[in-house]
Amino acid sequence: MSEPAGVSILGVSGSLRRGSFNTAALRVAQRLAPSGTAIDIFDLSPIPLYNEDVRSAGFPPPVEAFRSAIKAADALLICTPEYNYSVPGVLKNAIDWASRPPEQPFDDKPVAIMGASISMFGSARAQYHLRQSFVYLNGHVLNRPEVMIAQAQSRFDEAGELTDEKSRELIVGLLSGLREWALRLRR
Ligand code: FNR
Repeated sequence: MSEPAGVSILGVSGSLRRGSFNTAALRVAQRLAPSGTAIDIFDLSPIPLYNEDVRSAGFPPPVEAFRSAIKAADALLICTPEYNYSVPGVLKNAIDWASRPPEQPFDDKPVAIMGASISMFGSARAQYHLRQSFVYLNGHVLNRPEVMIAQAQSRFDEAGELTDEKSRELIVGLLSGLREWALRLRR
């Protein structure tokens, strides 16, 4: 039997917190990834606050690294909490930096969004706001399955393992959809 086609996914967490449920969910996604699919997680913490004066002198090295990683990946997997019903500033700031010309790296890129929060809504409102940004950026966001891990504090164990079977199944479905989406868009 032939090897499955290789698909590289860049994982991005919207939380910098060491014990973040969203970063933990990305690590779960790494373990659940389908055969032939590799997920690397990019750490947003070195990215400075956006400043047009700084950009006009050139992208800072952490931003350049983020832009290169996006360009090199076949697809993006963003896992984000919801802050005040919207996208956390850390994530929005990184997207704003990466999106500046030349060669906007989200253009034509397959994207999957998932998220975890401690409320009943599992970051739904942040996810829809994020989708809106990708309309402008022309990223191709997968519509389903929607992975919204509600009441995250009760769905992960101490080691960061996702113990909720339904959420695990949804992540498997999202990864399989993203892989297929990336392969279709590659053709
Ligand atoms: C929150 N949290 C939160 N949760 C939610 O469901 N809706 C919301 O609007 C907010 N707003 C919010 C604002 C700010 C500034 C913080 C710090 C937190 C709670 C959030 O779901 C919780 O802190 C998660 O644990 C954050 O995700 P990580 O850090 O565990 O990945």
